[in-house]
Amino acid sequence: MHVHRLEKIFLGLGIATLVAFFAILVTLQIGEGFTPPSHIQTIDPTKVSSTPPFDHPGLVRRADGSYEAYYVGQVFSWQPASLTVPRGAKVTFYVTSTDVVHGFLIEHTDVNLEVMPGWVSSGTHVFSKPGDYLIVCDQYCGEGHASMFAHILVK
Ligand code: CUA
Repeated sequence: MHVHRLEKIFLGLGIATLVAFFAILVTLQIGEGFTPPSHIQTIDPTKVSSTPPFDHPGLVRRADGSYEAYYVGQVFSWQPASLTVPRGAKVTFYVTSTDVVHGFLIEHTDVNLEVMPGWVSSGTHVFSKPGDYLIVCDQYCGEGHASMFAHILVK
């Protein structure tokens, strides 16, 4: 079978790209300790409203001065819709869904979680700047998707 020279070049480039991506993955995993996100906590999505601490979504202060924030997503809202935290607060978010897949994105932070029924996703942020932080759903979840938002006030 005859393979054209240009086809060989493109094939070579494709294989070289795959090898490069694989090398980057291995380097990040071994060198930087990067791992795929893991779900450490599961929850029965039909019993979220009666499963502590998600039966009372909101903010909890830990003994060390940091905070835990528990959020429940369902079409088409987040509970709690509004939270106030002091400036400088380190907050670990725990988020779950009662129905479909949602996205929990806090603007101007690194917190961007895929929220799936049956799982608890988590992420942490230190709110060093005061302001009104908007939480949006960034996974299309239905016709009310665009109105699925909440606020965190940092004072
Ligand atoms: Cu929830 Cu989009």
